[in-house]
Amino acid sequence: MAIEKTFLMIKPDGVKRQVIGDIVDRFERRGFELKGAKLMVASREVAEAHYAEHADKPFFGELVDFITSGPVFAMVWEGESVISLARIMMGATKPSDSQPGTIRGDYAVTISENVIHGSDSAESAEREISLWFGGELA
Ligand code: TYD
Ligand code: MG
Repeated sequence: MAIEKTFLMIKPDGVKRQVIGDIVDRFERRGFELKGAKLMVASREVAEAHYAEHADKPFFGELVDFITSGPVFAMVWEGESVISLARIMMGATKPSDSQPGTIRGDYAVTISENVIHGSDSAESAEREISLWFGGELA
């Protein structure tokens, strides 16, 4: 039993496609609590820091271009095992592996424009919440 917080973000493709409501609804129905949210355009600096672990990958430039291409909906969610359960609800990164019923499995067919980000560990969650929300959620 562990009550955790995680950072989830609806990417510019998800905001454009007007699926914020559906995605928020999925996490509320599962029993998680929304602790903070904002619609914002990320600066290049924040996007690069967010994806720093991928800085040496060939897709990094396009990834940062995409994430800064329009508004994102940044959120903090709380609940039992929310970090790993949210990753399961999101679906796999690779479209060929993301199951129907998951967010990516229902909405995405490309690896790059895949609707949602979610922290992959407690350490990532802490780092990402602080990067995107700073002291706002103290
Ligand atoms: P990654 O952290 O591997 O996936 P996840 O979002 O599931 O944690 O990659 C971060 C993002 O980078 C991913 O959501 C989409 C993008 N990406 C690509 O554009 N091409 C790729 O080959 C990979 C692996 C990721
Ligand atoms: Mg990741």
